[in-house]
Amino acid sequence: MKPSGPIPLWFEAEDGMLLIGDCGARSLIDEAGDTPLFVYDMGTVRSTIGRLRVAMPDGLHLHYAMKANPFPPLLAAMTGLVDGFDIASGGELAMALEAGMAPDRISFAGPGKRDDELHAAIGTGVTINLESEGEARRALGMAERLGVTPRLAVRVNPDFDLKGSGMKMGGGAKPFGVDADRAAALARQVIDAGADWRGWHIFAGSQALDTLAIIEAQAQTVALAARLSEEVGRTPPLVNIGGGLGVPYFPGDLPVDARAIGLALEEALTLPPEILEESAFAMELGRYFVAEAGVYLTRVVDVKESHGERFAIVDGGLHHQLAASGNFGTVVRRNYPVAIANKFGVENAAEPVTIAGCLCTPLDRLADKVLLPPVQEGDIVAVFMAGAYGATASPSAFLGHAPAREMLVGG
Ligand SMILES: Cc1ncc(COP(=O)(O)O)c(C=O)c1O
Repeated sequence: MKPSGPIPLWFEAEDGMLLIGDCGARSLIDEAGDTPLFVYDMGTVRSTIGRLRVAMPDGLHLHYAMKANPFPPLLAAMTGLVDGFDIASGGELAMALEAGMAPDRISFAGPGKRDDELHAAIGTGVTINLESEGEARRALGMAERLGVTPRLAVRVNPDFDLKGSGMKMGGGAKPFGVDADRAAALARQVIDAGADWRGWHIFAGSQALDTLAIIEAQAQTVALAARLSEEVGRTPPLVNIGGGLGVPYFPGDLPVDARAIGLALEEALTLPPEILEESAFAMELGRYFVAEAGVYLTRVVDVKESHGERFAIVDGGLHHQLAASGNFGTVVRRNYPVAIANKFGVENAAEPVTIAGCLCTPLDRLADKVLLPPVQEGDIVAVFMAGAYGATASPSAFLGHAPAREMLVGG
């Protein structure tokens, strides 16, 4: 038997049926037409963002990194809840605009921006977070050809990392941003070329659950932004201090203490270094806003035994929910929180079962030897924490299965 991750505490059942945004899982599947199905509860997203706003200093901008979940109805609902979108491609730019986000509230980070992506972003007035001197040259050239003043910020590869983060985007040799010791020179060059310099983008890492490490990285980020701005001799309009707030996926994971992070940030920003006194600050978060709001529902197609072990084979799998299979940035495979949606909260004798996906690869396990009520054909498996890096972060074309359905409730 292996433990599964913590199911968010607010999930409840009615007559043994899991409720998502007050609707029974089975009726949601009927409404969507079939499984596999991602359901995202906008009510949960709204309360998460509301709580974070209360915890953070007044005036801190909250940006949504839409790579976490770009489902169009969710994006449209997000435009009224956050201060900006962070995009990572021309495709995301089109989706952000379609969702109704104003171009001057969109910033574009990511290595390898193609000329057509720079063209679209500069042409619409989106801020480009420059990843290199070469990208700056191409962006300035593109702006000249378009006859516009480009909005350009410099993404800095900081000289520190975010300790304990699941993915490190800063510190040491990285393909992201410009090394801190060259960042001021690049900002100066951009200003001298007549661009509208928007400031700094400093993103040290992602999926961190260590509150003190986040506080320390944010303090280092503000100090670095001040040092670089002094070198440039200009106050940056915006300092994007990154994000990295993680969510509890696995057994033993505890949520970050947002209040403690907010208090430390408030202290740092109440009396900032003089050169940053007029700067605005932003935090850029993806999974923190949406992960807990999503549930992946998949139907048990077959139940079988092999060498004394019980397997429930479902109609979904890693082609929709790669992260839960342990193949998206985790070193050791551990179980996401899972339950049988139609036997939720039922005090039945539990037995160990492995939830295997329908792909013919041993990698396709949504849960390994977890204790669940006896599983039968037709049961619905719920994988929680599925609102981020699910449908669009999984190899959905693999083996030609149909894509998962997606729906938003509580919108
Ligand atoms: C530049 C940037 N911003 C935001 C994010 C979102 O991270 P998370 O979803 O962990 O908040 C990432 C993650 O890779 C990133 O690289």
